[in-house]
Amino acid sequence: MSQAHLQFRAIGKNFPGVKALENVSFDAHEGRVHALIGENGAGKSTLLKILSGAYRPTSGSLRVGGQERVFESTAQGIAAGVAVIYQELHLVGQLSVAENLFLGHLPGRWGLVNRRRLRELSRRQLAMVGEDFDPNVRLERLSIAQRQMVEIAKALTRGAKIIAFDEPTSSLSAREVEKLFSIIRQLRQAGHVILYVSHRLEEIFQLADSVTVFRDGRIVETFDSLSGVTSDILINRMVGRDIHDVFAYAPRPLGRAALEVKGLMGRGLAAPASFSAAQGEVLALFGLVGAGRTELLKLVCGARRPSAGEVRVLGEKLRLRKPKDAIRRGVVLCPEDRKQEGIFPVRSVMENINISARRHFSAGGLWISPRRERRHASGLVERLSIRTPSLSQKIMYLSGGNQQKAILARWLGEDVKVVLLDEPTRGIDVGAKREIYSIIHDLASRHVAVVMVSSELPEVLGISDRIIVMREGRIVASMDRAAANQEKLLALALPESGSPAGQDRV
Ligand SMILES: Nc1ncnc2c1ncn2[C@@H]1O[C@H](COP(=O)(O)OP(=O)(O)OP(=O)(O)O)[C@@H](O)[C@H]1O
Ligand SMILES: [Mg+2]
Repeated sequence: MSQAHLQFRAIGKNFPGVKALENVSFDAHEGRVHALIGENGAGKSTLLKILSGAYRPTSGSLRVGGQERVFESTAQGIAAGVAVIYQELHLVGQLSVAENLFLGHLPGRWGLVNRRRLRELSRRQLAMVGEDFDPNVRLERLSIAQRQMVEIAKALTRGAKIIAFDEPTSSLSAREVEKLFSIIRQLRQAGHVILYVSHRLEEIFQLADSVTVFRDGRIVETFDSLSGVTSDILINRMVGRDIHDVFAYAPRPLGRAALEVKGLMGRGLAAPASFSAAQGEVLALFGLVGAGRTELLKLVCGARRPSAGEVRVLGEKLRLRKPKDAIRRGVVLCPEDRKQEGIFPVRSVMENINISARRHFSAGGLWISPRRERRHASGLVERLSIRTPSLSQKIMYLSGGNQQKAILARWLGEDVKVVLLDEPTRGIDVGAKREIYSIIHDLASRHVAVVMVSSELPEVLGISDRIIVMREGRIVASMDRAAANQEKLLALALPESGSPAGQDRV
């Protein structure tokens, strides 16, 4: 192979109390997709931030096109042809698509923007990523998938040769993923250097030409080709041991109805929703992004006011004015958008774990002992293998996946009746996923009803007792684990699908 366009040479990065990267060296070539994988906190995002110029390495250097570079700022990274597309997109919501695309170099003279030219240029840029929406529309009106396309178009506008993606598919539907992949393949064809971070191994096999595996900030192995490499091999390298049965499902006896939802209606739903979940049952709500699953969960726990219908918990009707009403009765929600709804970024890991209002209610207003608080939090940190230098670390400094685990930890080990989980394993590594599945089963075997929204079919089929399919704001099917398979669930979830022999329809 010719000399690699992008070379990492002995990169190290220290944060107070954390060696995020140590002696990282590998090459990434033009016209190839190079995947970076590893457990939560392994250092993948940190490496991309060094590449972009957002962080300076503690040691080591980068070479771009054979030239040694240390970027002092993201502006220098951009000038050297680097674009990093972060999971939390960096575009400005209030500006139009066109303004975002040309931010910093709007066409025009003497401070006046040439609007017509801007629009025309923007259209051309959007066409390169297969989009034809109006560039004058405000960015906040677009879906996550569309915003991502704008990010890619922006990278191309700036002439980026190296394009890095940090978990780009975690909020996309199956179709949007396909579209993103076809764009990435085009970029590869056009000779770009692509770096690709994901926890979804099936994506690695679909897309990547080579893979570097990280563990604890170091490279475990780089595979220059994926031929002969299996997901068992990759998992073994990532976590340092074999994990065969990720789901570890075992049937449990079910009790009485823990949650009964009757004719519940509200924003985001197209028809009143009715379903129930028994004590000890794991119920999955499957559907495409936008099918109304999150909205349904929010209505169930009072995070959003229903316009009709009722919710019963162990037979008793729930007041649905505020989430507090539901929490008091043992119904808790772990939201999907943890970044916005879930964490208190500048508070410590311990505070974020212990903050659950429920704990304070259950203490009956009593003073909670700091020692007990600490013990509670450290037990959960251990159980979920949350990687943090200490309990007092601000949670915003944890890696994405570790933040998620900390928030999930909040509701565990408490006296709850119904746990509502919205995409609980998004962005979480295989080892931690298995932990979370075992916690879900643990809750269920303690008679809790678990209702879980998930877009990942293997997960839905792997851990639930029963599956409800939603499509376009309504519940369209409910089936037992034994009756479900991938094809059936997808056919039910897709908008224009015919119903498979009418069976299982509600
Ligand atoms: N700004 C920061 N301050 C302190 N520690 C940090 C900072 N950024 C990252 N870290 C730490 O560096 C380590 C690597 O984090 P990084 O975000 O690179 O992991 P990751 O591989 O991207 O994980 P994930 O899959 O969960 O996103 C973690 O231990 C994290 O807590
Ligand atoms: Mg990360």
